[in-house]
Amino acid sequence: MARWAGWAVLALALSTTAPAALAQAGSLSRATAFADKPAIAVGVAWYPEQWPEARWDTDLALMKATGFNTVRVGEFAWSRMEPEEGKFDFAWLDRAIAAARKHGMMVVIGTPTAAPPAWLTQKYPEVLRVDENGTRAGHGGRRHFSFASARYRDFSRRIAVEMARRYGKDPAVVGWQIDNEVGPPSFDPESVAAWHAFLQKRYGSIDELNRRWTTEYWSQHYNDFGQVPLRATGQQNPGLLLDFKHFTTATWTDYVQNQVRAIRPLIDPRAFVTTNTMFWNAGFDHFAMHRDLDIASWDNYIQEGRPDWVANGANHDLVRGYKQRNFWLMETQPGRVDWAPVNRALDPGQVREMAWQAVAHGADAVLYWQWRPAANGQETYHGAVLGQDGKPNPIQPEIARTAADLVAAAPLLADTAPTADVAMLFSYDSRWAIDIQRHHKGFDAIKAFTDFYRPLRTQAQGVHVVAPEADLARYKLVVAPNLMVLTEAQAKALETYVRSGGNLVLGPRSGMRDDANALWPQKQPGPLAGLLGAEIAQYYALDESVGVTGAVAGKATIWAEDIMPIAKDVQVRATYADKHGWLDGKPAIVTRKVGKGSITYVGAWLDPAAMAQLATSLLADAKVTPILPGADPDLEIAVRAGGGKRVLIAINHGKQAHPLALPAGAKPAGGDWADGQVAAHGIAWFTLGETK
Ligand code: GLA
Repeated sequence: MARWAGWAVLALALSTTAPAALAQAGSLSRATAFADKPAIAVGVAWYPEQWPEARWDTDLALMKATGFNTVRVGEFAWSRMEPEEGKFDFAWLDRAIAAARKHGMMVVIGTPTAAPPAWLTQKYPEVLRVDENGTRAGHGGRRHFSFASARYRDFSRRIAVEMARRYGKDPAVVGWQIDNEVGPPSFDPESVAAWHAFLQKRYGSIDELNRRWTTEYWSQHYNDFGQVPLRATGQQNPGLLLDFKHFTTATWTDYVQNQVRAIRPLIDPRAFVTTNTMFWNAGFDHFAMHRDLDIASWDNYIQEGRPDWVANGANHDLVRGYKQRNFWLMETQPGRVDWAPVNRALDPGQVREMAWQAVAHGADAVLYWQWRPAANGQETYHGAVLGQDGKPNPIQPEIARTAADLVAAAPLLADTAPTADVAMLFSYDSRWAIDIQRHHKGFDAIKAFTDFYRPLRTQAQGVHVVAPEADLARYKLVVAPNLMVLTEAQAKALETYVRSGGNLVLGPRSGMRDDANALWPQKQPGPLAGLLGAEIAQYYALDESVGVTGAVAGKATIWAEDIMPIAKDVQVRATYADKHGWLDGKPAIVTRKVGKGSITYVGAWLDPAAMAQLATSLLADAKVTPILPGADPDLEIAVRAGGGKRVLIAINHGKQAHPLALPAGAKPAGGDWADGQVAAHGIAWFTLGETK
């Protein structure tokens, strides 16, 4: 407790500025606004309600011995906090939080609304979720409420407010997590009514909806909003299906904000408010969800226990992009999960690699799920720090080592954030529009994104992932793998970026549709065709690959577009070799220099080697240089900078040691670096001077 004693004095100075405002000012990279608390949180999900109180001290002492400084409590414990309607029992949680505080832990509180108690759903069955086939959920699982239920919102708000009143000013409580992994939509009558109200607000009149969705097709014309079915899948108008996603985004965002708005006035303004999200979750637009949250947080699991490190890093970068600031890794696995077909444990060393990878990509916290398996319940086989006997599992020493590293490195990492000269645009609308009509079953937008990301990340050693609306001026190279949905406003902003010296790269299927998922009247890239000075004459789904030759050589695997240059200054970088086929000799990749910048269109889904060549040439054109040229592919390299510091992090994901030639001025600061090498499965961090 002593090390936090100064916080009350600082409270006055900071309390007038909300964390969100500080983040916007760009002055704060760390994810909590408590300057007096550890800059890196390391901890675990702890469910005191599952254990006798007499055990709590032992558990907290063991957590402390593991090196943890943080616990997350509360989510899922609704039936314990409110055992009967309107009757609250917080005495146990008061004591649990007090015990955590006594052991020097920071506390994150989760609101328990992912798991409504049985009395609630029994008395008010209309709050229960209904799936797309009309089946109403029952009690016993979780997330079985309707996201549109007004009554459920009332109950959720009330329990959140009760918690905020009690713990909002508790000196140990640094953050609030709303609900837990919000996700499945509902198709109950209230959701249907909300859908109709949503469409009315979006389109103003039914005529406008008919126009934007082009309903003069299969007799889809609607006379009023009440006729529009609420559907997520199946034979439906693509405009309806994309708007369903806009609806789930609005509804989930409002569901979360219902609690945020209620607790904000009651909690310490330095405490963050977040909601924990899932791996590449397609349920809603995460950029929109995070607009009114302070930080992003997410749950990173490698279900099959066989990490693809680069792909995993892409998801970290996406999460960082939600707010373009550091985030919390709210959950990660102590070895294995319990929900994969085969729940293979990570190899020794890889749990530590996961933690450091998160930090290298901008996490200011690593929290394990979970401390100890409950004696019963759906997740008894999940990885945990302790076994069912209450003693450390074999993974505990590795976690303790990780915690020790992170605590030691925290002062250096404080106020630093990952640097990058390259940004990739992630567009939820585009991802959904592609999924609604893939045209090739293998055209998975996440796979396509990762295929572009992989060589860019490996070669540039830093990539930010941002929304299409983000300010791009600071990036030398911006890559949008499949920007299928492109609005006029986005196109204008991208054009400004290019004309002021930026280098923009569009991948296949870009600029094809508007935000009602209708085709633009001009060929791709639609509103950017003028800037490119070229358009897509035709697109082809491939069942066998087609050769690509030129500055980039290899194969178009599942997708190829024939690009037709119109302006004279369009440079063809590669063409197709497709004897007797439609694509023979046609341009596959073109670039046009415009103003001080350039725009490139890549029409082919390239094989990995060709993609790597493409990345090399794009990075060279944009004058992006790696931090450590020639580093072994097993080594993941990142720099976190800020507060006058630059910290180089090297993670060896391989099974053997690799040499690391340090840049001038680099000084070892910790980890497994010896004799110029990073040990197998080792981590090393260094301080750098002010320049790269
Ligand atoms: C999710 C949930 C946790 C737990 C873990 C298990 O991330 O948020 O409550 O179920 O999965 O992997």
